[in-house]
Amino acid sequence: MKRRHLAALALVAVPAAALWLLGRSGPRAHAAEGPAPAAQREMVLNYEQSNGKRLFEHYCAVCHGASGEGDGFNAFNLNPKPRNLANREAMKTFSDRQLFDAISQGGAERGKSNLMPPWGHTLNERQLRYLVAYLRTLRESE
Ligand code: HEC
Repeated sequence: MKRRHLAALALVAVPAAALWLLGRSGPRAHAAEGPAPAAQREMVLNYEQSNGKRLFEHYCAVCHGASGEGDGFNAFNLNPKPRNLANREAMKTFSDRQLFDAISQGGAERGKSNLMPPWGHTLNERQLRYLVAYLRTLRESE
């Protein structure tokens, strides 16, 4: 190989190697890993809640109402009434796990009204988790 070619090769190879090294360390490498963990958790939560909202409107709102306050159009028919899922104080007494099980198992299996259907056969675990995440966003209207 002629010297001229070697020089040209070095002109390309040296900066390329330097850029590669820079890219592997220092602050730029960090930026390439995506958002910080807190922001990432927030994105996941938003994703779960918005999926949960869609599921809720489809499967639950008929009884629990679009706002979760227990006033769906089917509610007048039911005794006991569907629970008000927007009551923050009452909802605080449930852990996420308890809500998950309540939705999955339904009323009858837990000694409550069989008018609350068991959803564990219809919805998978991920969908049940989305629903729990969404229930946590509900607030009673003033
Ligand atoms: C056919 C009407 C109906 C539908 C549809 C329905 N529910 Fe219910 N739900 C009820 C009734 C009635 C109760 C009250 C049960 C009781 O207190 O005995 C209840 C209670 C609950 C409770 C409280 C359980 C407890 O242990 O006190 C949760 C949580 C709940 N429903 C979530 C949901 C979710 C989420 C959906 C949609 C996937 C849903 N429900 C769909 C009627 C319904």
